[in-house]
Amino acid sequence: MNYDDFINRTVADIPPSGIRKFFDLVSTMDDAISLGVGEPDFVTPWLYRDAAVKSVISGRTGYTANRGDAKLIVEIAKYNRDRFGLDYAENETIVTVGASEGIDLALRTLVSPGDGVLVPDPSYVSYMPNVRIAGGVVKPVRTDISHKFKLTPEALDEAADKTCKILILPYPNNPTGAVLDKSELEALVPVIKKHDLFVISDEIYAELTYGARHVSVASLDGMKERTVTLNGFSKAFAMTGWRIGWFCAPKPVCDAALKVHQYTIMCAPTASQEAAYAALVDGRETEYEQVEYMRDEYDRRRRFSVAMLTDMGLDCFMPGGAFYCFPDIKKVCGSGDEFAERLLLAQKVAVVPGSAFGGGGMTNVRCTYASSIKSLDAAFTRMKKFIEDNK
Ligand SMILES: Cc1ncc(COP(=O)(O)O)c(C=O)c1O
Repeated sequence: MNYDDFINRTVADIPPSGIRKFFDLVSTMDDAISLGVGEPDFVTPWLYRDAAVKSVISGRTGYTANRGDAKLIVEIAKYNRDRFGLDYAENETIVTVGASEGIDLALRTLVSPGDGVLVPDPSYVSYMPNVRIAGGVVKPVRTDISHKFKLTPEALDEAADKTCKILILPYPNNPTGAVLDKSELEALVPVIKKHDLFVISDEIYAELTYGARHVSVASLDGMKERTVTLNGFSKAFAMTGWRIGWFCAPKPVCDAALKVHQYTIMCAPTASQEAAYAALVDGRETEYEQVEYMRDEYDRRRRFSVAMLTDMGLDCFMPGGAFYCFPDIKKVCGSGDEFAERLLLAQKVAVVPGSAFGGGGMTNVRCTYASSIKSLDAAFTRMKKFIEDNK
């Protein structure tokens, strides 16, 4: 049987995730420390778990409405308003299977074959493959350390051509930790309008900014009408395994997306929606105590990690959000791939080469700091030894 004849050409051409390759190697090693996984080391708070368990025990095991459970959507609307000044009505919201489904849903709803999709590079691994699966053409927009990996109006203007219809706005950014403040977002708006772009704003790390609050692009004048806002529970609420997030967009776009969602997903998992509802109600009633606690912890780990990386002689930009450091390793190795592979073999520490996130991070590696200080200390001590041994 020649399977190549059956597999979709675009899917066949997409390389597997550069992150997976390292996880597979780590899982075969005793005593390895992984700074590779982009997920909180906290367990989902008990109250949210309990809400899901209770709903299952009470027999709530069927589908919800396609769009999501009505009471959860009401809470999402309040949360969007309270935290980010966003004004999305209930019929402008869909509960998704994580922000992951949101990215795919937004792209499949908006992209027609051949449409150009601008993707800041480096960025989260799933954007570029999903653009291609949706039939679009990736138009990378390079960001670099000289602008702290922020998307600039000049770079956007230069990269946008006539085919471009969509801009993915990935801030706070994975893998760089870059954030865009209000004035930086405002500076992008005239360029977005000049090229008549629709924005897909992935705000999954919106709660995890250090020092300044996240600003949602859809809260700026004239931007809600041309923005899909994606968010979710995975990162800030420590709920990765529940697979739950949300998609908000102006009603005509949301109505179109709902068709894709209902024919592919039906609805997000019911028990996870119960846990998510408990998370938002608890958040509102406690002024987001749990979220604040985890954010403060990540902040401590962020400062610790940057200090350790700087101490070993690597150039490391201070991340403003998410939970990743993105040090430049060119003083040690020719590429992030070589560094990551040799570090893993010599010292059993897993980091992710910057190349996994696009061409803009070839001499960088991503180190996740969503681990305990003890484990970060052990990992960075081994990394320092690796650097000293390779001088
Ligand atoms: C930038 C970004 N967007 C989306 C996701 C996917 O999140 P979810 O677990 O909500 O699907 C991730 C996960 O690492 C991410 O880093």
